[in-house]
Parts: sequence; C-alpha cells; structure tokens
Amino acid sequence: MADSGRVARVAETDDSQVRLAVINEVEKCPSGALTYSIDDHEIEQLLPQAVSIIDDGPVWVTGGVAVSTSDGRTLETRNRVTLCRCGASANKPLCDGTHKDVGFADR
Ligand code: FES
Repeated sequence: MADSGRVARVAETDDSQVRLAVINEVEKCPSGALTYSIDDHEIEQLLPQAVSIIDDGPVWVTGGVAVSTSDGRTLETRNRVTLCRCGASANKPLCDGTHKDVGFADR
C-alpha cells in the first residue's frame, strides 16, 4: 500500500528534506486519511470549522464539524473529512477517491 510506504520512508530516513516532503504531502490530504506523528504525538493542523467544495471532487468538512447521515448515524467527528459528491464512492458517505476514476467534473 502506498501510504505505508510513505510512513516507512519517514521512519527509515535521517534526511530532513525527505521528512519535510512527506509531512507537506500529509498536510495536503483533505480527508485526514494520512497523518503523521512526532515523538508519538499525532500532529494535526488547525483548520477552521467549515464546509466547502473541492473542485471536481468531494465536500470538504473541517474543524471538527459533526456529520450525520440521512439514516441517523453520526460519523466520527474529525478535523478533516471528505464526503462523496459524485455518487460513485464504495464507502459512502465518505469519498474514496473514485471521483477521479469516473471523471467527475463540476463543469
Ligand atoms: S466525490 Fe470522491 S468518490 Fe465521490
């Protein structure tokens, strides 16, 4: 799996440039599926409470906004979460990245 490969790269290198590149990549992950920790402390950037649209992609919910489904379930409240907007995710209501495979586009 690609993500575990990234973790291994960080854990196995003393190269601060590699570590910084991986941290930057993790911080760009809108879903929060990728995380990193330093000295066993998980690092999570501060994000405002907001709901926004990612162009040609999911709804992006940040800042610990609670999300409930239409059948009454409440999702784990997280700092970052992406919700499917294309209808093709196999993990609805969460986005699983399938929007790229199906060519979902706003325009
Ligand atoms: S928006 Fe990402 S899978 Fe639907």
